Amino acid sequence: MANRMTVHLDGAAIYDIVIENSYDQLGGEVARLGVNERKLCIVTDTNVAPLYLEEIQKQLSAVCRQVDAYIFHAGEAYKNLDTVRSLYEFLIEKKYDRGDMLAALGGGVVGDLCGFTAATYLRGVRFIQIPTTLLSQVDSSIGGKTGVDFDAYKNMVGAFHMPKLVYTCTSSLLTLPEEQFASGMGEIIKHGMIKDAQYYHWLRESSAGIRARDLDVCEQMILVSNQIKRDVVEKDPREQGDRALLNFGHTLGHAIEKLMNFELLHGQCVALGCLAASYLSASRGYISMDEVNMAVDMMAQFGLPTTIKGLPLQTEEIISATKNDKKMDSGVIKFILLHQVGAAYVDRTVTEAEMTACLSWLSGGTHEK
Ligand SMILES: NC(=O)c1ccc[n+]([C@@H]2O[C@H](COP(=O)([O-])OP(=O)(O)OC[C@H]3O[C@@H](n4cnc5c(N)ncnc54)[C@H](O)[C@@H]3O)[C@@H](O)[C@H]2O)c1
Ligand SMILES: [Zn+2]
Repeated sequence: MANRMTVHLDGAAIYDIVIENSYDQLGGEVARLGVNERKLCIVTDTNVAPLYLEEIQKQLSAVCRQVDAYIFHAGEAYKNLDTVRSLYEFLIEKKYDRGDMLAALGGGVVGDLCGFTAATYLRGVRFIQIPTTLLSQVDSSIGGKTGVDFDAYKNMVGAFHMPKLVYTCTSSLLTLPEEQFASGMGEIIKHGMIKDAQYYHWLRESSAGIRARDLDVCEQMILVSNQIKRDVVEKDPREQGDRALLNFGHTLGHAIEKLMNFELLHGQCVALGCLAASYLSASRGYISMDEVNMAVDMMAQFGLPTTIKGLPLQTEEIISATKNDKKMDSGVIKFILLHQVGAAYVDRTVTEAEMTACLSWLSGGTHEK
C-alpha cells in the first residue's frame, strides 16, 4: 500500500506525493499523467546517474514515447544559468515541445535546476520530482520553489513552478553519504520544532532506527515531515505569511553557510541556526533552557554540529551577513522564534544585541558534544 498524499493549491488538487521503498510503481504513477505520446527528459547529476538512472529509464521507457537523459556535474557549483543554458540547448536539439516533460532525479540541486528549467523553457513545461537525498525528500521537492544561484548569490534567480508528481523511494537513502543524511535530519528536526512537538519527541525516541536507516522508520518520518511541509505550503504557497515559519534556523543558518563558503552543508548550518533561535526563544522566556539543551543533544545525536567554536567566524560578520538575507522585509529582519517547542512564530523585533548574545552562546562550547 503506497503512502500517498495530495498537495492542493487554492482548493484544487495539484500533485501527489508518493512514498515507496522501490521504483517499481514509478512507471504506473507517471503513466497517470498522460505521457504515452510524449517525450520525457530525465535530468540528473554525475553521482546519481550511475546509481539509479538505468532503473528509472527502464520504468519510464515503458510509459513514454521517448526517454532522454541529461547529466550534469554534481554539486552546488553547477546549479547555475550555464547548466540551465546547456539543458535548454539539449531540449531544443531533441525538439522538446510544450507537451513534453522533465524529471528531476537527484537531490535539491537537481530538483531546483530542473524545476527552474521546466518553469522557463517554452514558458513552462511539466516536470516531476524523483528526490534521492533525505533533504530533497522532506524539503526541496515539495512546494514548487525552483531556482539557481547567480554568481555568489544563492537561489537569486528562480520561479514558483509546481511539479506534477513527487515520487520518493526510501531505498535511495541507503547509498547516501553519512553527512548528507545528517543534513536532511537538520530540516526534519526543524519541522518538529516549528509545528509538531509530538513528532519532535518521536524523532528523539526513534533515533536508533533512523540512524540505522531502517526503511520503515524512515518512511514514517518522511511521511510526517511531508505532511508538515505540505500543510504549510498549502496555506501560503508564495511565502507571504506562514510559509516563513519553515525559515526557522535559516536567518543565522544561511549567514553561517555563506561565510563558510558552503563548506558546511545546508542542514548542518540549519541545525546551528535552530539552536541559536532556540536559545533566543529561551532568553525571551518562551521555552526553557532544558528544552534548549535537549535540542543540543538531539542535533548531536543525529551527527549535526552544535557549536560554531573553532570555525573561522566573527559574530559581527554573521550579523552583517543576515542583513543581506532574502528574509529581510523592508529592512527588518524576519526572525522565526518558538513560543513553545512545536509552535513557531515570525518575530520582527530581534535586536543586534540579542543576536550577539545567542551567537556568543553558540560559540561558547559549553554545550559542545
Ligand atoms: N526548492 C526548495 O524549496 C529548497 C529547499 C531546501 C534546499 N534547496 C536546495 O537544495 C540544494 C541542496 O540539496 P541536497 O542537500 O539534496 O544536495 P545535492 O543535490 O547537492 O545532493 C547532495 C550530494 O549527494 C549526491 N546524491 C544525491 N542522491 C544520492 C544518493 N541517493 N546516493 C548517493 N549520493 C547521492 C549528490 O550527487 C550530491 O553530491 C541546495 O541547492 C538548496 O538551495 C531547495
Ligand atoms: Zn533549508
